[in-house]
Amino acid sequence: MTETETVNSRQAQAWNGPMGRHWAAHQDRYDAMLADVNDALFEGAAIAPGDRVLDVGCGAGATTRIAARLAAHGHAVGVDISAPLLDRARASTAAKGITNAAYEHADAQLHLFPRAGYDVVISRGGVMFFADHTAAFRNLARALRPGGRLAFICPQPPGPDTEEAQVFSLFRKLLGEDEPTPDLAAAQVAMMSLSDPERIRAALQGYDDINVTPVPVETMWGQDAADAVGFLLSRTPDRTVSAATRAALEDTMRPYETDRGVRLNAGVWLVTGTRPL
Ligand SMILES: C[S@@+](CC[C@H](N)C(=O)[O-])C[C@H]1O[C@@H](n2cnc3c(N)ncnc32)[C@H](O)[C@@H]1O
Repeated sequence: MTETETVNSRQAQAWNGPMGRHWAAHQDRYDAMLADVNDALFEGAAIAPGDRVLDVGCGAGATTRIAARLAAHGHAVGVDISAPLLDRARASTAAKGITNAAYEHADAQLHLFPRAGYDVVISRGGVMFFADHTAAFRNLARALRPGGRLAFICPQPPGPDTEEAQVFSLFRKLLGEDEPTPDLAAAQVAMMSLSDPERIRAALQGYDDINVTPVPVETMWGQDAADAVGFLLSRTPDRTVSAATRAALEDTMRPYETDRGVRLNAGVWLVTGTRPL
């Protein structure tokens, strides 16, 4: 890992370790999983030609590249704490011949971005992992020009009745996992750290025009049940699973097969705000 100054060392470790490498290796699948939120994110961001866009927790850069295209003669910068994901972001961006997108390896909570250097800050699920959300959003406000826009997506609470919650609870039972592993538990806590709108508003002290809007989405897990189960099991490669258990896991996914893949209903928040003039 390239060293970068961080106050989020546990997350830095996770996103430079097996979890980050899994996201990098399966970039296309994670992008397909999250693609449904893009319309809401980019509607909220309202990027115009000429804009300078910062994509926080950009991962492999899918949204950075969309932002770069919308910004036309402007540009987009993706910032992330994960070296393997940034390697993928740079390779994919070069392969697509995109010349107005660049990437920085840094902790967005701390990094000294150019003051008022951006017109728009966006994030698709990359702002939940900060140890201190208020400090992080203050740092991002400093990077926005006065009147600049913030737009990000984060998960809603995983109510027990959502399809995702039901499927993953059945998965854990079938795999004999009463409790998630400590690493997974820590990741889930971080992932859900902004799921309460009051916490979001509290973290956005100093922003104006804050809106927290529910957006129903479908997450895509695979082409069919077997493909989705193979993908989910690949996240813990050292675990062995019997053929009978695998078949039961596939049965759990089968009701959600559609002609556009295995899709589960979920909910996210679209959060928008502006830096005061
Ligand atoms: C759920 S992934 C989302 C990735 C990407 N936005 C996407 O939609 O594919 C969260 C991302 O946030 C990054 N991240 C976590 N903490 C960060 C921090 N303090 N500064 C910058 N990036 C961070 C992770 O490395 C990871 O790439």
